[in-house]
Amino acid sequence: MKSIVLYSSKYGTTEKVAKELALTLQCDLKNLDETKVSLSEYEQIIIGTSVYMGRLRKSVQKFLIQEIQALTNKKITIFFCCNEETDYQALVPTSLKNNAQVYHVGYELLTDEMHFFDKWITKKVAKQTEPVHALNQQTIEQLKNHIQPKL
Ligand SMILES: Cc1cc2nc3c(=O)[nH]c(=O)nc-3n(C[C@H](O)[C@H](O)[C@H](O)COP(=O)(O)O)c2cc1C
Repeated sequence: MKSIVLYSSKYGTTEKVAKELALTLQCDLKNLDETKVSLSEYEQIIIGTSVYMGRLRKSVQKFLIQEIQALTNKKITIFFCCNEETDYQALVPTSLKNNAQVYHVGYELLTDEMHFFDKWITKKVAKQTEPVHALNQQTIEQLKNHIQPKL
């Protein structure tokens, strides 16, 4: 099954998970912030996004709207990097709710890398000034297991 991992990531957390998945599958990997993709050659699409201010990353949102038709007949997996309070299921487009498998892989707050405004918001809202590493490796393993072709 030809697969591709697509993602958008601001500080690298979603990218890290996306790279791990692409390595596991030995498949193509593309950053939606940088390139357009043609889906026709792929049977399995894995999409990774983080959440900012309750929203998907803009390039992911745009991709999902543009490619919604092309996605309906494929094996779709979406993984979210976000905190536990976020209703990530509500961010899945309605037309994909039935055929997309959705995973919440946790999150990181990389305060050392953040721009001033993001750091300020993180301090005000999440009350965090130090880096937080809360990716859930167990869920990532389940996700890897799900996307691997079954013999
Ligand atoms: C300014 C800011 C706003 C954020 N807003 C949300 C949010 O609304 N919901 C959420 O679950 N996580 C939120 N987060 C946490 C990010 O989703 C988390 O840091 C994620 O791991 C970032 O992944 P990335 O580096 O791949 O973009 C926010 C983080 C920042 C810095």
